[in-house]
Amino acid sequence: MARILITSAIPYINGIKHLGNLVGSQLPADLYARYMRGRGHEVMFICATDEHGTPAELAAAKAGKPVAEYCAEMWQVQDELGKGFRLSFDKFGRSSSPQNRALTQYFAGRLAENGLIGEVTEKQVYSHADARFLPDRYIEGTCPNCGYDKARGDQCENCTKQLDPTDLIEPRSAISGSTDLEVRETKHLYLRQSLLKDRLDAWISSKTDWPILTTSIARKWLHDSDGLQDRGITRDLDWGVPVKRGEEPWPGMEDKVFYVWFDAPIEYIAATREWADAEALGDEAWQRWWRNDKGAADVRYVQFMGKDNVPFHTLSFPATIIGADDNWHLVDYIKSFNYLNYDGGQFSTSQGRGVFMDQALEILSADYWRWWLLSHAPENSDSEFTWENFQASVNKDLADVLGNFVSRVTKFCRSKFGEAVPEDGTTGKRETVLIGELQRRLDAYQAHMEAIEIRKAAAELRAIWAAGNEYLQDAAPWAVFKQDPAQAAAIIRLSLNLIRLYAVLSQPFIPDASARLLTALGCEEAGWPDDIATAVAALPAGHGFAVPDNLFGKITDEARQDWQTRFSGTRT
Ligand code: MF3
Ligand code: ZN
Repeated sequence: MARILITSAIPYINGIKHLGNLVGSQLPADLYARYMRGRGHEVMFICATDEHGTPAELAAAKAGKPVAEYCAEMWQVQDELGKGFRLSFDKFGRSSSPQNRALTQYFAGRLAENGLIGEVTEKQVYSHADARFLPDRYIEGTCPNCGYDKARGDQCENCTKQLDPTDLIEPRSAISGSTDLEVRETKHLYLRQSLLKDRLDAWISSKTDWPILTTSIARKWLHDSDGLQDRGITRDLDWGVPVKRGEEPWPGMEDKVFYVWFDAPIEYIAATREWADAEALGDEAWQRWWRNDKGAADVRYVQFMGKDNVPFHTLSFPATIIGADDNWHLVDYIKSFNYLNYDGGQFSTSQGRGVFMDQALEILSADYWRWWLLSHAPENSDSEFTWENFQASVNKDLADVLGNFVSRVTKFCRSKFGEAVPEDGTTGKRETVLIGELQRRLDAYQAHMEAIEIRKAAAELRAIWAAGNEYLQDAAPWAVFKQDPAQAAAIIRLSLNLIRLYAVLSQPFIPDASARLLTALGCEEAGWPDDIATAVAALPAGHGFAVPDNLFGKITDEARQDWQTRFSGTRT
């Protein structure tokens, strides 16, 4: 039994995530966690909300709420949605937790002790009316290039020109509208990543089994002329982890907080500690997942994220971990994803374009979405959600192949033999061939799951379902029954066992359907099969079952068109 630590990139607190976000980290991480638990490994699966930074502050202001209150509410919303999608986190934490504050301050203190923190004085715009420094994008004014009067301090949205706040004509605060602004000097902490370049380089180079998508992004940032710059890790904001050097005050940094990207990945560790604290377990319970000197040396740590997150996980966070030089366990494998597009364009949170997690669950339950999203995961290139493709996959894979097999087998058995596994007859050549095929496919399915090749795993699972359907079609127990009921009984006995097998193997993808099948078959405790021949004899003759309700409904053309129209615009 191995120990596997799994983290999903932690979603920003401001707003409900869309299906593209979901398939880029949380959902595939959940698939992997479920699979590894199914195989009997000890799993710790961690996610959280990413709560600090200006976007959270501004979203709270827009909602007319104090930021802490806003974050607490949005955490609830995201937690509920995660449960709705059956994301099986061991802990869904919060980056604003006391645990993260303590760990973030601890890491900053270690980095300072190790000579990896520098102080830099910068010029920044201060707003008297708001009594705060303004990040570039929160300064608005007229674009010197095109005259657009709502250009931001970092860029003009109208003509796309990159700007500095000082370029703007009549600059004003985007928060209050005040023009009472002043350029002031302010001091910030920098993480001297450049000093760690060789160690990071050697570490990345040792990861020869990582996906190209991951290592190519890491290498680009390591070797580009402006790659691996020292990085500002503090901000002049109120909302965030107060800057401290371990538990000590940091002179000159009293009104500052750590930059959100400094504390966010530390939350992976902190959330594990939140879990241990909530369960009233000691420090050793979370440290054995994270500290090599406390038992984590034999942990395999796998991270899931979208490609835009890769630089932070291959360079910045490892710089924190390596720089702390205190036995923390580095990531062992990074699985990253391309983007999912929506119906000819992009999913967009800011524009409200696409289907969002709450809306998705309003129209269909988790399994439908999980199956489509995972079987179309944007692994090797971007992929696209279209309603036609969604309808076709659901109707074919879930309803026609899996659902139909279950329904035909259980209903036929009930009508001819009653609601128990029939006992007569013996199996022959056709069954031997089927078992051989299923064994090969099971081996392939497992290999793809171990390698986190999600589309390939989905294709193999679909083929496993289809093999049962084809067998049933060929064996035709309804025809055989007329001459040879015992032979029909043997076919049905095997087929009922296939349903049990399918429920177990499908659990990582479609956990609700899996649970319903196992309940209907009265075998909730069914474990992962060792081999097919044994697994298809697990349900003995006489074992009772109930015909389950229709497993998956088909998506009608009307429903598809209706959703297509409903989700064609932008969310308000
Ligand atoms: N909130 C970030 C995003 O959605 C991800 C943060 S991942 C972490 O892009 F490593 F920083 F935690
Ligand atoms: Zn412009």
